[in-house]
Amino acid sequence: MAKVACKSMDISFQHVQSSLTSRDNDLRAPSQAWLTGRSSLHSLSVSCNRISFSGQRYGVRLRVVAEANKAENGPVSVDTSVNPRVAALRPSKTMAISDYATALVESGVPVIRLAAGEPDFDTPKPIVEAGMKAIQNGFTRYTPNAGTLDLRKAICKKLKEENGLTYSTDEILVSNGAKQSILQAVLAVCSPGDEVIIPAPFWVSYPEMARLADATPIIVPTALSDNFLLRPEKLESVLTERSRLIIICTPSNPTGSVYPREVLEKLAHIIAKHPRLMVLSDEIYEHIMYKPASHTSFASLPGMRDRTLTVNGFSKAFAMTGWRLGYLAAPQHFVTACGRIQSQSTSGASSISQKGAVAALELGYAGGEEVAVMVKAFKERRDFLVERLQGLEGVKLSVPQGAFYLFPDFSAYFGTEAEGFGKIHDAETLCKFFLEKAHVALVPGDAFGNPNCIRISYAASMESLRTAMESLEKALSLLKPAVATPL
Ligand SMILES: Cc1ncc(COP(=O)(O)O)c(C=O)c1O
Repeated sequence: MAKVACKSMDISFQHVQSSLTSRDNDLRAPSQAWLTGRSSLHSLSVSCNRISFSGQRYGVRLRVVAEANKAENGPVSVDTSVNPRVAALRPSKTMAISDYATALVESGVPVIRLAAGEPDFDTPKPIVEAGMKAIQNGFTRYTPNAGTLDLRKAICKKLKEENGLTYSTDEILVSNGAKQSILQAVLAVCSPGDEVIIPAPFWVSYPEMARLADATPIIVPTALSDNFLLRPEKLESVLTERSRLIIICTPSNPTGSVYPREVLEKLAHIIAKHPRLMVLSDEIYEHIMYKPASHTSFASLPGMRDRTLTVNGFSKAFAMTGWRLGYLAAPQHFVTACGRIQSQSTSGASSISQKGAVAALELGYAGGEEVAVMVKAFKERRDFLVERLQGLEGVKLSVPQGAFYLFPDFSAYFGTEAEGFGKIHDAETLCKFFLEKAHVALVPGDAFGNPNCIRISYAASMESLRTAMESLEKALSLLKPAVATPL
């Protein structure tokens, strides 16, 4: 235990906290570093039970920033420190480019936004009508925390018929979007110090959710030449006794890759050797899939049901992003744990949205004709973009089998430059270049754990995609190999 007491000084503790949170997971729990006496300007003590202030333990260098004191009887300043776990969260890397795109739009530039993660279609009419009816009929009160029985029954039926999974209604938890389902699952399953295996490219929120649970994200890169699928031997090489959860997303955001059943079986074979290891299977893009690819629910593989938490939702296939509705299907023990988190945070999802979700599941197998029409449009757009991107020199592409994203590798253009813009250092500068010169907004791959690629969302009209591709092709033709500057 080390203690620093300061007289007549205002000490900012924030720097210390960020050192702790970013460098050493063992030191991240808020209980391991705290402030006392913060409200007194005369005396402040900082205590830590795992480190010495003068030492260099764990390689953490501590620096306490002290400022001259305010007037003895002056106003008490507000403590602006935040929970170290929150401080450790990384801001979304997509924000800078998105803010820039917004600024351009506001200044009158017609930017084509291919960065969105939501369908450009309207919610199918039968769902909308069910939502309106819910309001008109006064179905506007709290529902059970886990979701209405009607909806949970409909989800059980869907899982049985479409996924070969048998769950009872108390093994289903309906939440405000799949995002909440995933966060709750991660929080419920992981203990501080546990490792969460996340194949990269990944959906941006997975590593941050692991951090929120005080767990360590273990990012496992996959290769474009493997269609961004995790190789079983690669998985085996990263597993330790601390491995608690692996997150599999199929079809994938951002790559559109779909895991074939044989690959999932091989992964399951390895996972089965690790009693502590659970699987979070994010299947939210399940219905947006292009033949011959087909969807396999991880929990349906032999021996995997007891260790799999399946997450799905209505945002993507049913174009219901704003309705905020997702769900978890898992063994009751975990559903109860997740339900406990939900009951003390948001309670049950919107009653109106739940009525809409029942209507969505009544549209027919895999969303029936309403969803099939959207999937057909997505496929036409994918085919168009794949053809155009494959025609671009230096661009490498794994043809996506699902979702509505492409994730081409543009690294051949890193190191080039354009007159009036400067050098393209990486995916981020290339996205900035595309925004400035082609007026097309895309997302740099580093946000998803792959700095060579760029995510293109084709949740946009064919007309927009055509214009975007023409502009991108023109912009790329402006890039020339950078001229080496003499030293
Ligand atoms: C892979 C993946 N999982 C989960 C979600 C969350 O979806 P929801 O809108 O249901 O919260 C998204 C949304 O972008 C996603 O891409």
